[in-house]
Amino acid sequence: MTKKELLYEGKAKRLFTTDDPDLLIAEFKDDLTAFNGEKHSEEQGKGALNNKISSELFKLLDNTGIPTHFVDMLDENHMLVKRVDIILIEVVVRNIATGSLTRRLGIEDGKKLPFALVEFYYKRDDLGDPLINDEHCLILDLVKNEADLEELKRLGREINTILKAFFRKKELNLVDFKVEFGYDRDGKIVLADEISPDSCRFWDIKSGEKLDKDRFRQSLGGVKLAYEEVLKRIMTK
Ligand code: TMP
Ligand code: ASP
Repeated sequence: MTKKELLYEGKAKRLFTTDDPDLLIAEFKDDLTAFNGEKHSEEQGKGALNNKISSELFKLLDNTGIPTHFVDMLDENHMLVKRVDIILIEVVVRNIATGSLTRRLGIEDGKKLPFALVEFYYKRDDLGDPLINDEHCLILDLVKNEADLEELKRLGREINTILKAFFRKKELNLVDFKVEFGYDRDGKIVLADEISPDSCRFWDIKSGEKLDKDRFRQSLGGVKLAYEEVLKRIMTK
């Protein structure tokens, strides 16, 4: 399968058409951005790490009954995916308070939440991806109906349950994560985009060390080492 036309370029990936109208190739870039692109850098090898990590997590989720756009990992930086219409909602699931949740609501950083919190953000860089509620989603026509919103929440919680248990065995706390979904050609909602240390927070269970993009956001250094450590733990039985 080879890349044809560039369909879309985001901050961390490029999407290309292929000979098959139902399949796209995602190219994972080495770019690192934070604060809506205000902070930008590059980390050689980061794209390959996220491609491998995402591929492994998509396979895990596929095997546990979560529909995903993943088809195959093609090479270091490329993933073959099903073409979907991306739903412009970033679904964030949180187990522990940190990041924008602590800033917005004054909850103590590191506080364990009594249940997994699901939030919706409008995927619009020009507006700074604002937090929105169910009614905003419907007014903005981001999904077809209320049942689809419930499906996004159900899938978000289910993905959380699976990944939280998986990472616990790897001595990592899944603090929170962001996922994106799309409608496939049959109108079914499937998990899309990526799941990587760019889009999740992982804290080492013993030391509390941050092993995700917060190392870049907070200028802690050791970004690539952290991503490598996450991949190593995923691959260790
Ligand atoms: P937040 O605390 O900054 O709202 O982030 C919540 C989670 O979502 C965290 O795991 C990082 C991820 N995230 C993204 O993947 N993309 C984004 O644009 C933002 C703001 C957060
Ligand atoms: N992904 C967003 C950006 O690139 C924000 C973030 O992840 O912190 O700006």
